[in-house]
Amino acid sequence: MRIKTFALTLMALAIGSVAMAQGDIDQRVEELLQKMTLEEKIGQMNQLSGGYQFTEMIREGNVGSILNIVDPVEINAVQRAAVENSRLGIPLLVSRDVIHGFRTIFPIPLGMAATFDPDIVEQGARIAAIEATASGVRWTFSPMLDIARDPRWGRVAEGSGEDTYLDVQMGVAMVKGYQGEDFSDPTSMAACIKHFVGYGAAEGGRDYNTTMISERALRNVYFPAFKACVDAGALTLMTSFNDVDGLPSTGNDWLLRDILREEWGFDGMVVTDWNSSGEMIAHGFAEDLKHATELSINAGVDMDMMSWGFIQHTKSLIEEGKLSMETIDNAVRNILKLKFRLGLFENPYVDVTLARKVAYAPEHLAAAKQCAIESAVLIQNNNNVLPLAKGSTVLVTGPMADAPYDQLGTWAFDGEEQYTVTPLKALAAHFNVINAPTLSYSRDTDTSSFKAAQKAAKKADAIVVCVGEEAILSGEAHSLSNLNLQGAQSQLIAAMRATGKPVVVVVIAGRPLTIERDLAKCDAMLYSFHPGTMGGEALADLIAGEAVPSGKLPMTFLRDAGQAPFYYNHPMTGRPNNGTETLLHDIPLKAGQTSLGCTSYYLDTGYGPLFPFGYGLSYTTFEYANVNLDKYEHNKSDYIHIDFDLTNTGDREATEVVQIYVRDLVGSVVRPVKELKGFMRVTLKPGETKHLMYDLPVSDLAFWNRDMEYVVESGEFQLWVAGDSASGEPINFKVL
Ligand code: BGC
Repeated sequence: MRIKTFALTLMALAIGSVAMAQGDIDQRVEELLQKMTLEEKIGQMNQLSGGYQFTEMIREGNVGSILNIVDPVEINAVQRAAVENSRLGIPLLVSRDVIHGFRTIFPIPLGMAATFDPDIVEQGARIAAIEATASGVRWTFSPMLDIARDPRWGRVAEGSGEDTYLDVQMGVAMVKGYQGEDFSDPTSMAACIKHFVGYGAAEGGRDYNTTMISERALRNVYFPAFKACVDAGALTLMTSFNDVDGLPSTGNDWLLRDILREEWGFDGMVVTDWNSSGEMIAHGFAEDLKHATELSINAGVDMDMMSWGFIQHTKSLIEEGKLSMETIDNAVRNILKLKFRLGLFENPYVDVTLARKVAYAPEHLAAAKQCAIESAVLIQNNNNVLPLAKGSTVLVTGPMADAPYDQLGTWAFDGEEQYTVTPLKALAAHFNVINAPTLSYSRDTDTSSFKAAQKAAKKADAIVVCVGEEAILSGEAHSLSNLNLQGAQSQLIAAMRATGKPVVVVVIAGRPLTIERDLAKCDAMLYSFHPGTMGGEALADLIAGEAVPSGKLPMTFLRDAGQAPFYYNHPMTGRPNNGTETLLHDIPLKAGQTSLGCTSYYLDTGYGPLFPFGYGLSYTTFEYANVNLDKYEHNKSDYIHIDFDLTNTGDREATEVVQIYVRDLVGSVVRPVKELKGFMRVTLKPGETKHLMYDLPVSDLAFWNRDMEYVVESGEFQLWVAGDSASGEPINFKVL
């Protein structure tokens, strides 16, 4: 880890870590289990939201974990009730949704994915852990690993986007960052990989909706990030709200026992999502809360978040023989093991002065700024209007120009807006800023201020319009069917365009919006997924050319929401587009009904997206040349040695995200048109050429085939090395 902080040193001095061998932990778990009554066991399986109000229940041993308190004084107080006042003194697990930072807020996870930089993402998670554990929070409900191919789904903000490989890299980086190297270190925060599984495939992008995912698609697309994080040592996993093919995840023993425990060897703890056990009643899968409890525990859930079913019904279910003592003991073992692993029995309390000392440490803010810089994607830059000349006069306007709360994005519960640096504030360090407030929030339709802004623009050399989405428009339960800019934001851009001044649009949003009409009305567009505490400084540096954009799109950008779901790695169709499209207005009147010559596309929006996955411009240009594979034929145990030249053909030092894609030309089942198999960030000086190499293991070409076996199938493949998923020339190779 690059980050070595004041907090780490301080805590290590104060407490010291207490790593314990797994064998010792198992023994202590068994000893404790022997002493526990059935009621105490059931209590461990119960997680409640709140603090002081549950003190009595905690003393009685009826609570194993709490969520949603962050005040260290309160955390110590409830912990004391557990450790000093309950019969067995079992500490509580204190949890929170620390999704993209605790106090220092990093870009939303979709923005972090746009960096294609697992190192900075791991650093971000480490910083989040340092800040949150200083308050006493030792368990976070992150990372969200749900593959999201539909930007209408509000929770695209919380994940890494549409690609499985990128999801794996980002998920593993977060798990490592949160948990650190030693779980029992007081700064280690248990990760919770969620939502298992398929939650992002909600039909129509409507949150909580049903999904229909085949086992093969689960294994090829939705499982890999979970499996990789299990292998990386993720300590906990959360079930999802949705059903997959009729089975709600919280009651799906195939998922939780056969796949997770047996196939993958997961030895951590499984928690439900918020009342996802109880919601099986609304699903029509459980008759009542008692039945839901029976289904959940038998399926392999260890801990119940907020259905209150486990605490109420487990005992009678055992008496009735519907749940076995062995099942309960195993669940409690998983919970106790986690508490021992985290060293909670040794260090249950937190130094109440620590949290404020470590929050917003300068190195935390610096990392958050770096992450926000790397996550911004330059979408358009006509005539190289960006960067703007430093010292010039810039009119700054739009609802996201000075929106310290909204810039933090969704699930940023503990970030405090008074620490947020907005673009309006930060741009003043580089430019002579004219502040022209127009729309006061993203849904605002009041255009009465536009005239004054147009007038003020006369004195400006350029205009920066900050538009996008308020934080509340994305995230859980915030699905949208229309992805155009809300309110009068598009009119605002058009009004600024009418001044004749160069217009730079900065979009600050939680998802890919449909911005085609707005692109036509501006010279440059910088897209920033809610960038967090330091977003303003990051954007100002980019606009002033102190930093150069390097972010790449982690999701396909659509021309119209009606194209969703749309993802670059879709299975090959029998009628792929051949480059010709007859569009709506090309069709003659009374055209005869024929499907001849037709391919897979829309009559109105055509075949392609607005921008492909992996797309993103720079202030320089890069040229790929001499892409070469060491040989044509490869054995299944080989590495494919790829080498190529990358040249910075412009006049600025900049970083390119090199992407490697592969297509398996013929498979025993239909294969994706392309799949990302590797990437690297490469920094080049102006005019510099680097000869680069990448070794791709042939084993990475494996997939779940027709016989549901995970194999590399022999045959012909194509490989691309390019700056996005739609560029480059394929090179053929063969696997023997
Ligand atoms: C969300 C989870 C979250 C939990 C606890 C649920 O509504 O789906 O992602 O971790 O609440 O806050």
